[in-house]
Amino acid sequence: MAVQIINTAPIAGQRPGTSGLRKKVSVFSEPQYLENFVQSVFDTVGDCHGQTLVLGGDGRYYNRTAIQTVLRMAAAHGYARVLVGQGGIMSTPAVSCVIRKHGASGGLILSASHNPGGPDGDFGIKYNTGNGGPAPEKLTEAMFARTETITQYRISDSADIDLDRLGIVHVEQMVVEVIDPVADYAELMQQLFDFDAIRALFAGGLRICFDGMHAVSGPYATAILEGMLGAKKGSVINGVPLEDFGGGHPDPNPVNAHELIAIMAGDNAPDFGAASDGDGDRNMIVGRRFDVTPSDSLAILAANASVAPGYAGGLAGIARSMPTSGAADRVAAALGIPCFETPTGWKFFGNLLDAGMATLCGEESYGTGSNHVREKDGLWAVLFWLNLLAAKQQSVEQIVRAHWATYGRNYYSRHDYEAIDSAVANALMDALRGQLEGLAGQQLGDYTVALADDFSYTDPVDGSVSHKQGVRIVMTDGSRIVLRLSGTGTEGATLRLYLERYEADPAHHSIPTQEALAGLIAVAEQLAQIRERTGRDAPTVTT
Ligand code: G6P
Ligand code: ZN
Repeated sequence: MAVQIINTAPIAGQRPGTSGLRKKVSVFSEPQYLENFVQSVFDTVGDCHGQTLVLGGDGRYYNRTAIQTVLRMAAAHGYARVLVGQGGIMSTPAVSCVIRKHGASGGLILSASHNPGGPDGDFGIKYNTGNGGPAPEKLTEAMFARTETITQYRISDSADIDLDRLGIVHVEQMVVEVIDPVADYAELMQQLFDFDAIRALFAGGLRICFDGMHAVSGPYATAILEGMLGAKKGSVINGVPLEDFGGGHPDPNPVNAHELIAIMAGDNAPDFGAASDGDGDRNMIVGRRFDVTPSDSLAILAANASVAPGYAGGLAGIARSMPTSGAADRVAAALGIPCFETPTGWKFFGNLLDAGMATLCGEESYGTGSNHVREKDGLWAVLFWLNLLAAKQQSVEQIVRAHWATYGRNYYSRHDYEAIDSAVANALMDALRGQLEGLAGQQLGDYTVALADDFSYTDPVDGSVSHKQGVRIVMTDGSRIVLRLSGTGTEGATLRLYLERYEADPAHHSIPTQEALAGLIAVAEQLAQIRERTGRDAPTVTT
């Protein structure tokens, strides 16, 4: 075994997006593509000597190959120890948990989250820092800059290790510990939630369906929900991770998780349904014939946080991404705690969590989490909901309706226009930005514009500023239209249109969502000319 220094040259386009570097497998498997990026990461994070690295992925195609490459490169950079999940598996929140628990200097997560997998699908890699959270933009930009000047990478020529056998092996001087990817995470969940109460719920006959979507959360859900908490065998469906996710699209929304939605709408529907995504950080909560929006889920968990032992002491604050509905703001106001509004991307919550300014965070994109790790956490949200069901002894729908009755309902929807031409998408956004200045005070349909801008965020902890984070048009009644381009797509551009309308009166809380938002949808179309510019007459996905 020896460390090799290999000559290389920069490869264009290795800029990490909202959540790491994501490309087609065909791109990642090009010679030196992965190596260049990993070398740039190691060069940027500084001295790796004597440090611990956590490594795992969502099990998608190319995961095992990439893990062996990263291990050989980590050994060539002087890491003392790598903790790698058995089979190369570790969910994103579990990586965050393991980094924090074992004092690692960072971790590499191999995942393209909810993007499809397989030889023709996507692959991705992202670096998390010692606090367990995604590398901040400053760091990812420095990594990108490094990819543009790279000339060499370092790699050991050692053989592949056996990823399936638990225990310790060596690559060069480096210790590689193949660990159970579930154990540390399960222990943390036990500290946060009332497992006895949830166990009693299952013993009393509560039926659930958790859809692992053939992605990483299956083993976690099976071990915790069925194994530790006593949910009936078979409560977890699609629970075995597959390299192509069974051909599915592991994104937990009502469109992609159609199997779960059908089960929850069936005659003999379980009491509670949930799904998670490719790397286990997203969650969707479903009641019997009743979907819970992610924005409402955040608000409801915040309003009832004290039912869970881990949050019994109260919340320091709530944080939500800008496009997420204002439902959580109403809860924060009632609790007398701050509610922070950040750009899209979980990494923006990191400083607030580290500084103890926020306890719960959430995004409209099916992401919810807390200060227990520095990532959003799918199964955590499921356990929180189960803890809530145990405490309230009510159905999901009853809990949500009671919440609306108290706080009012924020009708909410997101319309995605996927894989549109990038030039068309940019021109649409530019044209929209061009109109912003004169909009305030104008009457649009039934609405009067109160504020129109391109969202900028100043991080209250480090003062860093992020510009151009999404166009928002806020009406005088608090209704909002938000438009931005996705930072996670890999094909052309994805335009996201977010719509929100507040309704205080419980007598008007049962309008179908798209109907309740029809007036705003028309205003958005008129302003952004989505149909005309993209040639699409409907969104690809509506959530
Ligand atoms: C990932 C990120 C989230 C983000 C979501 C959508 O899941 O971790 O923070 O909200 O992608 O991002 P996008 O830029 O595609 O709207
Ligand atoms: Zn994810």
